[in-house]
Amino acid sequence: MDGNGRWATHRGLSRARGHEAGVEAIRRIVEAAPDQGVGTLTLYAFSTDNWRRPRAEVAALMTLLRFYLANEVESLVRNGVRLSVIGRRDRLPDGIASAIARAERATAGGAALHLRIAVDYSARDAILAAAARVAGMANLTREAFSALVTGEAGLRDVDLIIRTSGEKRLSDFLLWEGAYAELHFTDRMWPDFDAQDLAEALASFHRRERRFGGLAALALEPAPSL
Ligand code: IPE
Ligand code: MG
Repeated sequence: MDGNGRWATHRGLSRARGHEAGVEAIRRIVEAAPDQGVGTLTLYAFSTDNWRRPRAEVAALMTLLRFYLANEVESLVRNGVRLSVIGRRDRLPDGIASAIARAERATAGGAALHLRIAVDYSARDAILAAAARVAGMANLTREAFSALVTGEAGLRDVDLIIRTSGEKRLSDFLLWEGAYAELHFTDRMWPDFDAQDLAEALASFHRRERRFGGLAALALEPAPSL
């Protein structure tokens, strides 16, 4: 989710207002994703490096996260969305970690979409933490290591990574599970990203020939994981 700040600046608005518009885009895309065959959607909301931003902007983002967790759960449950939050929880402002745990419990039964929101997230830290836990362990399988990196057993690899706002970087996002992800870059700022943009990204994804290092085209599975 990139481009909130520029979206706001272009309109003479505060960056915080851009982040609010970004939350509206989350609502739109969470609603559109299951209809477009998306089974898992991971949104990059706040990276470990985003702590470097001015204190007021970090506070605005944390307030939005607090509001989202407090107000959105009911609609997530109604729409069959299971929410997970990935990333560190020990550095978040008071009360947010427990609000995350409550939201995860309340939405645990959702089967229409698995929504994962990455907060205080770094893919390299996730890999490092997993490596620290398995140091010295013999017979470690990729699957077992994956479960440690992603925090969940049996999660499929990421099929498609969409980066908005014209940037062409991975920025420490899903490095392990995105090893064979297709990449889609769009100039659209995140607050403007809508169902049609998602459809275009998925159409581009379905045109790709995925060989996973092999030669023959492999059949695409119906529910891509983003
Ligand atoms: C949102 O967009 C991503 C977050 C870190 C919340 P940005 O805040 O990065 O917006 P730009 O890149 O400054 O436009
Ligand atoms: Mg940015």
